[in-house]
Amino acid sequence: MELNIGKLKINGFAALAPMAGVADRAFRELCRCHGAAVTFGELASAKGIVLGDPHSENYLKGYEGEMPFGPQLFGSEPEIMAKAAQKALEYNPCFIDINMGCPAPKIAISSKGGSALLKDPLLAGEIVKAVKSVIGDTPLTVKMRTGWDEKNIVAPRLAEICQLNGADAITIHGRTKSQMYAPPCDLETIKKVKKSVSVPVIANGDITDGPSAAYMYEKTGCDFIMVGRASEGNPWVFEKINAYLERGEILPDISLDERLETLIKQTKLMIEYKGEHTAFLECRKHAAWYLKGFRGAAALRTECGKITSLQGLLDLCKMAKKFNIGE
Ligand SMILES: Cc1cc2nc3c(=O)[nH]c(=O)nc-3n(C[C@H](O)[C@H](O)[C@H](O)COP(=O)(O)O)c2cc1C
Repeated sequence: MELNIGKLKINGFAALAPMAGVADRAFRELCRCHGAAVTFGELASAKGIVLGDPHSENYLKGYEGEMPFGPQLFGSEPEIMAKAAQKALEYNPCFIDINMGCPAPKIAISSKGGSALLKDPLLAGEIVKAVKSVIGDTPLTVKMRTGWDEKNIVAPRLAEICQLNGADAITIHGRTKSQMYAPPCDLETIKKVKKSVSVPVIANGDITDGPSAAYMYEKTGCDFIMVGRASEGNPWVFEKINAYLERGEILPDISLDERLETLIKQTKLMIEYKGEHTAFLECRKHAAWYLKGFRGAAALRTECGKITSLQGLLDLCKMAKKFNIGE
């Protein structure tokens, strides 16, 4: 399947969602290897970028193994967002994404960005316009939730406003800000968003495998889908979705050995990209995710939290295999 976002052509069925603290360069590369069609960056503060914070600027960088990649910006001031987008262009992004869905207080309340823009569609439109005016034909995408709360479902109108101001695609997570991650995912509103714009609509929320991906396509009429949490410790979710949508095939479960090999591979990539200190801190949660569902996973979770070295990780893997043989 081919998806065109402005001048960008994407082949496949599912995008890897932007996930701060999870979908970093190492994980994005793994997901691309396992069939994710496109990757989004962790949200980056436009203000931080404009003020020259190197940490914020790092989020703008995309690398060969994760292409097509687009960084994601958050903020509330059109001029600052435009300046940050200009900076992003220095790294040749395949597209630039604007965050209009993040519910975290630091983003939505302190910075008045992310999901706060759901309450101010006109400002949201100004931001899209300002960014588009500086990025020219680089595709611009917007990721939003359905609304601030269930009494204020604005996504269909907001999507229209974003399109009018230059957005080339809309991603819609079928939840309100108030819902955070609680069920249900509102497929009706996603369907309405699809009807309200002519640019591609990427549907997001609770897709975990081939059948749930097919269901999202069928129920909403969306042009593409995006997968977030189901990829945690499970980059294979993309090849499973692809096999199901292409051929109706359900691929077998991934063995513990393959899971552990992939965890080690991911950790080594994190060491290379972020240094040992950060890599070992962050690999703890990934380790727990990779082990999920296997015998002894609950007991091993405490051990995951103690990883401080590659040897520590290898010892954990040995322990996991021992537990599993006991099955
Ligand atoms: C740990 C975590 C971090 C996230 N970070 C971002 C982010 O930086 N930008 C963003 O737009 N959404 C972010 N999200 C939301 C996801 O992109 C996605 O919309 C949400 O998880 C719903 O999709 P899912 O049901 O497939 O997980 C994050 C979600 C999680 C769980």
